[in-house]
Amino acid sequence: MIRLSAPSVPADPTSKERLAARGLDYRTVDTADRAAFLNAMQAVTRGFLGPEITGAAVAEESEPTEGRRYIGIFDAGIAQPQVPVATTDSWVTPLSVPGGELDMWAISGVTVAGTHRGRGIARAMLEGELRAAADAGLAIAGLTVTETTLYGRYGFGAAVPMSTWTIDTRRAGWAGPDVDGRVEFVSREQLASDLGRVHERVRTRRGGEIAAWPRRWRQAAGLSTSVKDGDHARGVRYVDADGEVRGALAYRVIENEREFTQSRLNIGALVTETPDAAAALWGYAVQHALVAEVTASLRPTDDPVRWLVRDERGAVQTIRDHGWLRILDLPQALQARTYSAAADVTLEVTDPLGLTSGTWRVRTALDGGVEVSRVSPGESAASAESGASGALAESGATGVADVHLGIAELSAAYLGGTPLTGLLAAGRIAGDTAAVAALDAALRPAQPPTLSIWY
Ligand SMILES: CC(C)(COP(=O)(O)OP(=O)(O)OC[C@H]1O[C@@H](n2cnc3c(N)ncnc32)[C@H](O)[C@@H]1OP(=O)(O)O)[C@@H](O)C(=O)NCCC(=O)NCCS
Repeated sequence: MIRLSAPSVPADPTSKERLAARGLDYRTVDTADRAAFLNAMQAVTRGFLGPEITGAAVAEESEPTEGRRYIGIFDAGIAQPQVPVATTDSWVTPLSVPGGELDMWAISGVTVAGTHRGRGIARAMLEGELRAAADAGLAIAGLTVTETTLYGRYGFGAAVPMSTWTIDTRRAGWAGPDVDGRVEFVSREQLASDLGRVHERVRTRRGGEIAAWPRRWRQAAGLSTSVKDGDHARGVRYVDADGEVRGALAYRVIENEREFTQSRLNIGALVTETPDAAAALWGYAVQHALVAEVTASLRPTDDPVRWLVRDERGAVQTIRDHGWLRILDLPQALQARTYSAAADVTLEVTDPLGLTSGTWRVRTALDGGVEVSRVSPGESAASAESGASGALAESGATGVADVHLGIAELSAAYLGGTPLTGLLAAGRIAGDTAAVAALDAALRPAQPPTLSIWY
């Protein structure tokens, strides 16, 4: 399948006009002009509280990532008019969903200079990204966030929770199975390659993952100039009895110089393809010499480590939002995935940008697809446009929606990572309890979604 090229998508004219009225130039950055591109990266690094890009970092940071569209907002009236006062970048990537994949508009690098905050620049950029993606035919957008309070207003919902682990190695102990493969050290170059290869093989197994790119794994392996003390990164991999690489682990040991037996091992990346690989690599970390604590983040909420240790109270899990999604085209997004139960519900959706607003009838089939139809005002759900069957017409469905929710909440629930029943209990959505429970059951896959990288 030929994926849409994000750089071919023009800057959104509405946001361009809105910002021009404030004397700002909103445009795509010409990545062929390396000096201009580096200026944009200087703005991104500054926005994320990093140092100025100098020395060896210049060559790496002047290299645009293939397939990305970089937006800059320029103010001609400042001392450094060539450095954008705001940035964002985006690209089209596969998003894993139950039963398949869906092209997603990924958004990253959202910054506004401290000198230009609070003027609606981020709003213009985010709305511009969503309109541009919707106009280009994308059904969903996604991002990972520095602060949870930023993106709900644009219709994003926290869809993929992930967990952080803090393991007291001595208390937790080890109860994992014996495996017949081997754990071996690899060079950092090999580590980056192994992480990428295994991740690419496993990412479609659950909803929530996107395709990573080489630099992401080079950063995990400490090979990027953007990583402090990169040479402290170590790597091991798991090779099964047939000689296949089934997992890779990037980690650092932070030595405790006052008490050598109290060092901490931090897992930077752990990707595994088989239960044996997970047991072997977690076992390697938890049983590491001189290590009293193992920490790991971006782990799935059902990480097997809880059951691999002897005393699970020695392994403390903290669950937090990680992957955020925003449905742009409701029928297309719902039709891209399979469902865990049959449901027939009518949703009244509100959308701050109007992209998905309206009343929708959603009929899912167990282990199968979905029919989505728009219900016109005054029309009963059973006679909605996609041609409801007689049986459905007799089912008593009415024009009154069963569930009322914002697109942020539907996006949060889309992969089954956020329970609609929980949102109902919290008053974040409204509706009939049985209908919410039915849709919730349909949306929940056998395994929760996961997203093992930042983007
Ligand atoms: C977050 C950031 C992009 C906001 O930029 P900004 O141009 O000041 O934002 P805007 O003026 O367009 O504000 C848009 C909305 O977000 C709200 N907002 C801005 N910063 C916020 C914050 N830190 N927390 C909660 N809400 C915030 C505003 O109140 C405004 O709300 P409204 O339009 O619903 O009334 C900017 O502070 C920044 O660059 N931060 C550092 C980098 C970063 O964290 N980027 C986000 C990466 S995921």
